[in-house]
Amino acid sequence: MTEIKTEQPEKMAMGRSMKRKEDPRFLQGKGNYIDDINLKNQLYMALVHSPYPHANIKDIDSSAAMEVPGAVAVVTAKELDAHGVGWLPTFHGLDKQMVLANGKVLYQYQEVAACYAETREAAYDMAELVAVDYEPLEVVNDPYKAMTDEVLLRPDREAKTNHIYNWNVGDESGTDAALAASDHVIRQHITFPRVHAAPLEPCGCVAEFDAMGRLQFYVTSQAPHVYRTALFMVLGIPEDKIRVISPDLGGGFGNKVPIYPGYVCAIAGALVLQRPVKWIETRTENMTSSFARDYHMDIEIGASTDGTLTALKVNTVADHGAFDAAADPTKYPAGMFGVVTGSYQFPHAFANLDAYFTNKQPGGVAYRCSFRVTEASYLIERAMDILADDLKMDPTELRRKNFIRKDQFPYQTPLNFVYDSGDYEHTMDVALEKIGYTELLKEQAEKRARGELMGIGFSTFTEVTGAGPSKHFDILGIKMFDGAEIRIHPSGSGIIRTGTKSQGQGHETTWAQIVAEELGLDPQNFIVEEGDTDTAPYGLGTYASRSTPVAGGALALAARKIREKARKIAAHLLEVGEHDLEWKDYKFEVMGVPGQSVTMKEVAFAAYTNPGDNEPGLETTLYYDPPNMVFPHGTYVAVVDVDRETGETKVRRFLAVDDAGTIINPMIVEGQIHGGLTEGFAIAFMQEIAYDEAGNNLATNFTDYLVPTSLESPHWETAATCTPSPHHPIGAKSVGESPNVGSPAAFVNAVIDALSPLGVRHIDMPLSREKVWAAIRNAEQTH
Ligand code: CDP
Repeated sequence: MTEIKTEQPEKMAMGRSMKRKEDPRFLQGKGNYIDDINLKNQLYMALVHSPYPHANIKDIDSSAAMEVPGAVAVVTAKELDAHGVGWLPTFHGLDKQMVLANGKVLYQYQEVAACYAETREAAYDMAELVAVDYEPLEVVNDPYKAMTDEVLLRPDREAKTNHIYNWNVGDESGTDAALAASDHVIRQHITFPRVHAAPLEPCGCVAEFDAMGRLQFYVTSQAPHVYRTALFMVLGIPEDKIRVISPDLGGGFGNKVPIYPGYVCAIAGALVLQRPVKWIETRTENMTSSFARDYHMDIEIGASTDGTLTALKVNTVADHGAFDAAADPTKYPAGMFGVVTGSYQFPHAFANLDAYFTNKQPGGVAYRCSFRVTEASYLIERAMDILADDLKMDPTELRRKNFIRKDQFPYQTPLNFVYDSGDYEHTMDVALEKIGYTELLKEQAEKRARGELMGIGFSTFTEVTGAGPSKHFDILGIKMFDGAEIRIHPSGSGIIRTGTKSQGQGHETTWAQIVAEELGLDPQNFIVEEGDTDTAPYGLGTYASRSTPVAGGALALAARKIREKARKIAAHLLEVGEHDLEWKDYKFEVMGVPGQSVTMKEVAFAAYTNPGDNEPGLETTLYYDPPNMVFPHGTYVAVVDVDRETGETKVRRFLAVDDAGTIINPMIVEGQIHGGLTEGFAIAFMQEIAYDEAGNNLATNFTDYLVPTSLESPHWETAATCTPSPHHPIGAKSVGESPNVGSPAAFVNAVIDALSPLGVRHIDMPLSREKVWAAIRNAEQTH
């Protein structure tokens, strides 16, 4: 792997490509994943799923299932209702979700009954034998059909409509007036199709009520503390009687944020049957229980003839499926979609969104995305290219003309964000130079003259991450700050705990680097512990790239708090006043007396052996409430060749220049970018959770929903620029989701650029060979 080069100075622990501390256990196959956890006397659970997308349930007969050797129990909505747990509030709070189908099913594969047995095999045999009498109903598999309210999907709700909510932001009349006065306006309908986060390890849990009646809940959760509080709210179990333990996770990407019906059924089974219950999702269950994206967007952009932007208007229809199970922060039903003005100066902007129920799986998870940032970023980056094409401008020149300039930060956008920092022009220039844009344009002109289809696509995106400041952000009323605990042992090693939960991002390494840098200690000597609500300080977890912006800030400040205490002990050791000391070259030194110093290691030992009049020990817990979000940005460039005969696209080059502010570990950042680009590549070219007319889900496994291997994936080129966040304690922004957010537009822009000589203006993702082939044939016939 090539190593990303940073523009920042290398320090003792920060900015270094330290090898991942967690890898020895993963590389030896010694990780502790959910299916590695087996409790004495445990039962296994399997779920019955509906083959129909919309149907009344007339009867459920479990007698044949109970004949299976090893069968223990079958539970349906009736039993759950009797215990008051038939419905589950969704995280966002706008809706509730059936745990097991209650009177009717609303999507194909919805959970209908839970079977408990002595073995996994027996549980699955039971699930096949539960006889459900369905009465099929008319299917609504399209939000535009849902909006007519001809078929009402959710009679359980007070409002008798399929419309869930309207959200809008900005100045509509000002935007309309500016559009009307613009020299030039482009209008385009753009869909971001329904996709799935698809972690390689599906979800699962093991639930046990121990001898003291305390729930020990092992679960694949990206947010263990939120689960504990939510379980208290749903099940009424006091929070001290719940311990949530999230073991090693094999990916998450947002899929492991919601509380799934299977979890509630496992807990209910463990409570009633008084035995531990284990449930591990199948691949199909994972593919059909949640989704991401599915935004249908109409965009209008106004510009003057020289390309200066005048206004932006967006109208979106969101397909939320059967339940609005998105885990968006309370005040943000459409997440951070307001970042749709992107990296550009729009004097006027307005965004409107209406969400609808359909007979599709529920969710709206923030798949490697800060709540709908990916949809917003794709839309604006795609639309900027359409505008450039219409104005006959180079897409980089249109962007350069309208970028928010580096001297304009902090920048108030017309859609209510204050961007912290950035230097978009510099990042794009680094990209243009590295990719050799001038030579590529020359090559493209030559190829076009020969009728060959070569495309160059850009995405100069801005993200918003780090939810978030407590004045704006909460989930279930819980404010979105994060805690960090640091304990320094007498020998100068230590343990770090946070409320975040790594799913492969390498927190065990980067958290140690942050603390080690602040304290002048060796990062190798820190253990990082996450995921156990009994030991970790409260925190809202890891999703939406919030770990570094929020928990990373908490860690740096907690380390500084320790340093302040250590200063007192150092003063005692050096027999000076604490204000006579300065923290210099990772040591406490008497000001003006070089050589009169003590190291943190010496202070740590003294904290337990000779603290003087100071409180002994060297430990702290700190909560960090970020003052603002952070706004990473990047320039991505894709170079593609499209085969005119077959429609096959080859991504010849892909360059990602990311600005994540101060980088903690360049190697880990590089890995994050490679992974996210591979996901973006898959979304752009091969993935979609599609439904047929009858509401059948056409993407329920990895033969229909393709996950690229190293064979299909392009070679990724990377580089980094560095504009630190002015308010983050170490100037870091996030990076985990950037490549997934920023790359789809670059891929699609490149393909459309290749097809533009034929007059092709837009094709919705995924850009499969068939779709591109059809677009070429269609264009050839009409031109
Ligand atoms: O929340 P999540 O961990 O998924 O995303 P993130 O905060 O973007 O961090 C992903 C990984 O990259 C973590 O190990 C971070 O510490 C690391 N990172 C880094 O080394 N430097 C940055 N400026 C941002 C993230």
